Amino acid sequence: MRTETVEHPLAAALLTTLRDARTDNPSFRTALRDLTGILVYEALRDAPLHRFEVRTPVANTEGARLAAPPLLVPVLRAGLGMVEAAAELIPDARVGFVGIARDESTHQPVPYLESLPADLSDMPVFVLDPMLATGGSMRHTLELLAARGATDITAICVVAAPEGVAALADSGLPVRLITATIDQGLNADAYIVPGLGDAGDRQFGPR
Ligand code: PRP
Ligand code: URA
Repeated sequence: MRTETVEHPLAAALLTTLRDARTDNPSFRTALRDLTGILVYEALRDAPLHRFEVRTPVANTEGARLAAPPLLVPVLRAGLGMVEAAAELIPDARVGFVGIARDESTHQPVPYLESLPADLSDMPVFVLDPMLATGGSMRHTLELLAARGATDITAICVVAAPEGVAALADSGLPVRLITATIDQGLNADAYIVPGLGDAGDRQFGPR
């Protein structure tokens, strides 16, 4: 599995805001949105282009647009805070939804929503979830996408744990990972250390 950790001074500063326990919900949402923009830029670095002629006020020249805008799939709740920034950068993108809540005692994913196009065989897919911890939620999402024929999947996460990265690599599913950091690991509650806490609660408040 291809994994890219995005190194950029602005990404480092935004990640610090997200990590800081003093950051309130609105500021957390703003920093997550801005960092998502940087991660999406990187995810699209090698995206194929459709080239066409465009007329400037002065002359004709070559223009370009994405040949295949990806389907954006935020994993609810926490991924919701990433979808607006991604959709602003890729206005032609369609959006699907997956809802998963991790069981706090077993740490297993509990799916509760699936709203996706039936056929994904010709469509790149960007999965948006700030946290990759055990990898269970992402793996479940990838299985839903692969079952619909997706073969070109990018997981865009803010913080990844080595355990989650290994789980995705071991899954054999067709995915690459773009992340702002790979942290030390998981604690006994399967929270990422140092991480940023509960990404859903920090955006929207406790359930
Ligand atoms: C968080 C996060 C991921 C998942 C990661 O969601 O947004 O979806 O945990 O953990 P995993 O890699 O061990 O599966 P959570 O289940 O807390 O739900 P929420 O987004 O509704 O807060
Ligand atoms: N989910 C989160 O929101 N944070 C973690 O650290 C692990 C799972």
